Amino acid sequence: MSDRESASAPTLVSLWTGVRKRLEAAGVDTPVLDARLLLEAGAGVARLDIVTDPRRPATLEQIDAVDALAARRAAREPLAYILGRKAFWKLEFKVSPATLIPRPETELLVELALELLEPARNARVLDLGVGAGAILLSVLSERPLARGVGVDKSAAALEVARANAAALNLSERAEFRFGDWAEGIDARFDLVLSNPPYVSEPEMAVLGPELLREPRLALDGGADGLDAYRAIFRAIPRLLAAGGSFAVEVGRGQAGDVVRLAEAVGLAPAPPRPDLAGIPRVVFGRAHT
Ligand SMILES: C[S@@+](CC[C@H](N)C(=O)[O-])C[C@H]1O[C@@H](n2cnc3c(N)ncnc32)[C@H](O)[C@@H]1O
Repeated sequence: MSDRESASAPTLVSLWTGVRKRLEAAGVDTPVLDARLLLEAGAGVARLDIVTDPRRPATLEQIDAVDALAARRAAREPLAYILGRKAFWKLEFKVSPATLIPRPETELLVELALELLEPARNARVLDLGVGAGAILLSVLSERPLARGVGVDKSAAALEVARANAAALNLSERAEFRFGDWAEGIDARFDLVLSNPPYVSEPEMAVLGPELLREPRLALDGGADGLDAYRAIFRAIPRLLAAGGSFAVEVGRGQAGDVVRLAEAVGLAPAPPRPDLAGIPRVVFGRAHT
């Protein structure tokens, strides 16, 4: 054992406590959980090791690796970027600083998509602003006969989406295209989905430190946050097959405006679907047949 190891003799649990305190001091929201996940990733141990063998001495390599990860998190880099992955729906997605980190509230859009897509149909699904692929790939994983196209204006995000499709064995049913929303797409789809950037200019000015690390292209919705919806709803009528449906996630307080944008292009949206916090979160409806 080296001097450094014997002098401090940190154990798995004392490392965890040290990281937790460091993250608390840095203002991280969930320091206990984050510290454990960083300990697991950095030290290469499982949760069970920490619980069943908390006094196991940590090696110098483990201490250094955990310290490096803790420094990144203390600088308020999002945990998902440090780990390189994020759980969403029933799956795990690779993420990178080129992609938005999929959010739990977006699972409501997946739920709605599954309500709108009959399991037995060879449906075609379009995801505008596909990012890491969380929405499209979750839907395809639940609908084995469906095929999908994901569009993004970030080539780096599309690379991550392709890697996720491959890891989930969905590449054969998922196509990814670089583009500006639906420009150049002339096919029709049974379901058009989008979780577009919807942060307004005043909100962009006060983003917290973790959000500032996410791509501006994934967040910035223009002056009132609705720019992307304007572009997307202009295109939706020509993208929908007969009897097709659309569903888009909206930010807090935006549902009314987005319903009006849908109505302005001749669509008849249903009452927006609220999330678990009661916030109207998804605007959706069917095309006229
Ligand atoms: C809020 S993120 C959603 C990512 C992913 N669908 C999700 O829910 O986790 C919005 C996505 O739209 C993409 N985007 C922004 N402007 C775009 C445009 N003009 N055309 C296509 N995609 C765009 C961003 O790169 C980003 O991946």
